[in-house]
Amino acid sequence: MTVDLGVYLSGLRLRNPTILASGILGDKAQLLRRASESGFGAVTTKSFTYNPREGYKTPIVAEVKAGLLNAVGLANPGYKMMRKIISEARINGVPIIVSLAGSNIDEFHRMAIYADESGADAVELNLSCPHVEKMGMEIGQDPNYVARLVGDIKGSITIPLFIKIGLTDNYMEVVGRALDKGADGVTAINTIRAMAIDIYAKKPILSNIYGGLSGPAIHPIAIRITYDLYSEYRATIIGTGGVEDCKDALEFILAGATAIGIGTSISKKGLNIAKDIVRGIRKYMENEGVKKLEDLIGYVHKN
Ligand SMILES: Cc1cc2nc3c(=O)[nH]c(=O)nc-3n(C[C@H](O)[C@H](O)[C@H](O)COP(=O)(O)O)c2cc1C
Repeated sequence: MTVDLGVYLSGLRLRNPTILASGILGDKAQLLRRASESGFGAVTTKSFTYNPREGYKTPIVAEVKAGLLNAVGLANPGYKMMRKIISEARINGVPIIVSLAGSNIDEFHRMAIYADESGADAVELNLSCPHVEKMGMEIGQDPNYVARLVGDIKGSITIPLFIKIGLTDNYMEVVGRALDKGADGVTAINTIRAMAIDIYAKKPILSNIYGGLSGPAIHPIAIRITYDLYSEYRATIIGTGGVEDCKDALEFILAGATAIGIGTSISKKGLNIAKDIVRGIRKYMENEGVKKLEDLIGYVHKN
């Protein structure tokens, strides 16, 4: 049986549902290109900020139980570098999603227009960085702000717009308002604010004290959020959080995700993880007699 793993993500055709999550490989074009060549269906850039940022002092990463804690501090060369990075990273047929982290609506607006003009295939607004003040969670929790932001940008760009949310009390309201204003989809979820302590030094491990938790520990939370968003809005979702194998990816798809973001597990398994996951999904579809992956999106809601 031939099976079709391609999906339409708000108008973007992906050869398979795997997407390199933002930030995990840093900001180098070469690495984005390698991810595309390794079989990812699409790649997301590191979040660009308006001005270049050096990020925090080390230690910026710590391994914790069932995951990774990071506080990189949105280190990136500033949004003007995106044009060069996009052109160097591009390989045919693999969309590039540009992630943006502005500190106000004007910055987001300018960067989104620049991304569109620079050849990005979509923009993802990072509204959920858990460790940089005024550039993430604070703005992502304010439904009025998010509605204004999305409405403002949507009228000025021609490419799909995604918002990236984290774990907040009011994510349902925030996403509802963003979708009303024309957001094309949601990336769920970003890392979750957390911390770890060195018991011998008797102080927090990360220089920033707090970091964002990613990896298997957050997977069931991301599944729940995906399920809720699909149930309420039939939203287009990039399910992200703790995907290590095809079972994790399929869980997201059945919950309602159209595509799957993959981050932390790349540090353990390398870039071939995309191919491995695609192979596993193909086998599952053959065994289950499913011809089109799109038929599985949100399937649990049918039961
Ligand atoms: C080292 C590191 C850097 C990250 N940088 C960004 C970033 O710049 N922008 C963003 O939206 N998410 C960033 N993330 C979050 C990931 O894109 C992803 O949402 C999160 O890690 C959950 O997926 P995972 O469990 O597969 O890693 C980063 C995650 C890690 C581990």
